[in-house]
Amino acid sequence: MNLISVFDLSRAEIETILENAGELRAERKEGKRTRKDLEGKTLALIFEKPSTRTRVSFEVAMLELSGNVLSLNWNELQLGRGERIRETAKVFSSYVDAVMIRAFRHSTIEEFAKYTSIPVISGLSDLEHPCQTLADLMTIKKYKKSLAGVKVAWIGDGNNVCNSLIGGCAITGMKISVACPKGYEPNPEIVKRAIEMGCDVVVTEDAEEAAADADVLSTDVWVSMGDEDEAERRKNAFKNYQINEDLVRVAKDDVIVMHCMPVHVGEEMTEEVINSDKAVIFEQAENRLHAQKALLLKLLN
Ligand code: CP
Ligand code: NVA
Repeated sequence: MNLISVFDLSRAEIETILENAGELRAERKEGKRTRKDLEGKTLALIFEKPSTRTRVSFEVAMLELSGNVLSLNWNELQLGRGERIRETAKVFSSYVDAVMIRAFRHSTIEEFAKYTSIPVISGLSDLEHPCQTLADLMTIKKYKKSLAGVKVAWIGDGNNVCNSLIGGCAITGMKISVACPKGYEPNPEIVKRAIEMGCDVVVTEDAEEAAADADVLSTDVWVSMGDEDEAERRKNAFKNYQINEDLVRVAKDDVIVMHCMPVHVGEEMTEEVINSDKAVIFEQAENRLHAQKALLLKLLN
């Protein structure tokens, strides 16, 4: 099995991953960091773009589960010199037990999966970031006790992180309102699929409308990796899509504020909000570790 899109997981599978992730978190807090479950197993991480959280959390996850991990830069592999994905994928099948890929194009990860016999995990593409969603759902569940009925408001770019979160909301029974400028809406097929699953998805240009009565406020950078050429145009388009104290006041009193990180302080989120007691972004980042451990146990055991 692969995790390339958040839709690769059923509601029951997500619930089990979150439950196991919670147990792993509790164990770790009690000082029990290592398990033997993945002894002898090797995970390869392939990065076509930079990463802090995804790389470190996957590396630590494998180390603490007694497995091995290889972090590989796309351009240092023959892939960077034009070796085809299909041959690379077949070669990886005979060396390692699973591969995580962070790629520019979603189709790159899908193509790798087509030609390999080992599980493939997306570590982000231009379309989705499913591992981020697992950590996001884990964080929301901890604060809101259950996911069903929770209202998420996404403020800003309808990007990869937003697309997977919409899918995560649809699978787990949450509602989501996305506020974004025209031309930066989330992927229409993902929105359509979520609505067909019965999810209450609203896409609006009005940040206050989206934030009204929200249980969760979330956002991401205005300029994602790969969008640098249009940075100025984007910064201009998104200037009214910031999570600041005024917007937080529109949401529920017990709203939590989330961001997958890295944060561009003063752009999509203000310093005051980042440092406020409503922000749970560091716990969200920590949960990448626990959620991915639970995912690896599912895929590699
Ligand atoms: N949130 C996230 O995926 O962070 P990195 O880009 O640092 O991996
Ligand atoms: N949307 C951002 C997420 C980074 C974790 C990007 O793709 O750069």
